[in-house]
Amino acid sequence: MELLRRALDAGMVREADTAFVLYDLDRLESRLAAVVAAFGAESLAAVAVKANPLPPVLAFLAGLGAGAEAASLPEIHLALEAGFPPGRIVFDSPAKTVEELRLALTLGIRVNADNFDELARIGDLAVAHGFRPRAGLRVNPQAGLGRIRATSVAGRYSKFGVPMAEREAILAAFARYPWLDGLHVHIGSQGCPLDLLVAGVGAVYDLAGEVDRRCGEGRVRCFDLGGGLPVAYRDGDAPSTPRAYAAALADRCPDLFSGRFELVTEFGRFLHAPCAVAGSRVEYVKRQPGHRTAVIHLGADMFVRECYNPRNWPHRTRALTPDGREKTGRTAVWHLAGPLCFSGDFPVRRARLPDLAPGDIVVIEDVGAYTLAMWSRYNSRQIPRIIGARQGRFSVLRERETPQDVMRFWLGTCPPPQGGGS
Ligand SMILES: Cc1ncc(COP(=O)(O)O)c(C=O)c1O
Repeated sequence: MELLRRALDAGMVREADTAFVLYDLDRLESRLAAVVAAFGAESLAAVAVKANPLPPVLAFLAGLGAGAEAASLPEIHLALEAGFPPGRIVFDSPAKTVEELRLALTLGIRVNADNFDELARIGDLAVAHGFRPRAGLRVNPQAGLGRIRATSVAGRYSKFGVPMAEREAILAAFARYPWLDGLHVHIGSQGCPLDLLVAGVGAVYDLAGEVDRRCGEGRVRCFDLGGGLPVAYRDGDAPSTPRAYAAALADRCPDLFSGRFELVTEFGRFLHAPCAVAGSRVEYVKRQPGHRTAVIHLGADMFVRECYNPRNWPHRTRALTPDGREKTGRTAVWHLAGPLCFSGDFPVRRARLPDLAPGDIVVIEDVGAYTLAMWSRYNSRQIPRIIGARQGRFSVLRERETPQDVMRFWLGTCPPPQGGGS
C-alpha cells in the first residue's frame, strides 16, 4: 500500500483516471529470480504471455533474460517485438495453422505440438522447407483435476495434448519423426495442489524414459513442464513456492535437474499476479436493506473470471480516502459493482470494508495476471492507465484509452462509416 500511496502522491493518478492499475516491476524481478533459482540458471523460464501481454512488461522480462511462452500468432509477435530472441520463445496452442507453424519454425521458435495431426504438419513443413524443426509433443498426463475445473487440463478428458493412454502412439511418433525431441506438459492454472502438479510432471518424466529406451539415449532433449504454480488470493492461503515445487520434482524425477534435459518452465500467474493492484474511484454508493453497494469503474471488462465464477476468484480489497490514506473504522460487508450492463457484474462480492463514500478509492489486490490480459470490450469501456514502479520511480506503461481509441478498436482497419442512412 505504501507504493500505491507514493504513486498517488506523485500525481500518477489524474482526476480523469476513474480507475488505474499499479504494477510493481521490482517485485516481478524478484519473483522471476525465485523461479530461476529453483529451476536452475540453465533452465528457460518462459513467461506465459497470456497472463500479462503488456509490451513494456514483456520487454522488462526479456531484458532480465526470461523466455516467453506464446499461445497465438499475435503473442509471438508481442514477444519478438519485446525483444525475446526466437530461440527463447515456445509456441503452444491447440489450433496452430500451417502458416503459423511455418513462421514459428523458420524463425527457430520451439513448437509444442498439441496432437499427432500437428506433428504431421510439422513433418511436411520440414520436408518442404528443408529445416529441422525444434518441436516437442504435449502430453496430457491424465493425472486428475485441480480445484478449478475451467483451468484444469489434466483430467481423463482434455481438449489439450495427447492423452497418456495413447502411450504406444506417442512412442511410435518419436520413432517416426527423428526431429521430435521434446515433451510438454501443463496440468492446470491455480487450484492444482503440489501433489497433482508433481504427479502430472512425473508421469511425463517416466514417459521420457520410455522414449529414450525405445528410441535411443538422450532422445528427449527438451522437457517443458508448463506453468501452474498458484498464488495466494486470500489471507491464509499458503501456496507452494518455486523452491518447494522444484524440490518435490527432484524427489520424484531424479534426472530432471541433472542436465539430461533442456528444462523449460511456463509460469504466468506466479510471476505476475501479486505484482499489481487495481484502483477505482467509488462513483456512487447504494444502500438497500441488507446490501451495501459501491459502484466502481472496473467490472467484468477487467475481471471476467471473477464476475462469471466468483467463488473461485476472490481478491483482497482495501479502501482509501480520496487522497489515498487507508480508511479505518468499523467494517461492514460491501459489494463492489462494476459499470457494465448485466447483473453479474461484481468484481468483488461481500468484501469487509470500512464505510465507503463517493470519491473514495477501492483497491483490488493481486491483479497482475489474467485480468487486464482478458479485457472484454463489452460496453466499450476504456482500459485504464497502467502505472509501472521500478526502483522508486513511476512511469506510465500504458496510457488510459480515449473514447477514440475504443472507436478505433471497433472500426478496425475500415474507414469510419458515413452517417445519414441510405
Ligand atoms: C500451456 C500453458 N502453459 C503455461 C500456462 C501458465 O499457467 P500459470 O499462469 O498458471 O502459470 C498456461 C495457462 O493456462 C498454459 O495453458
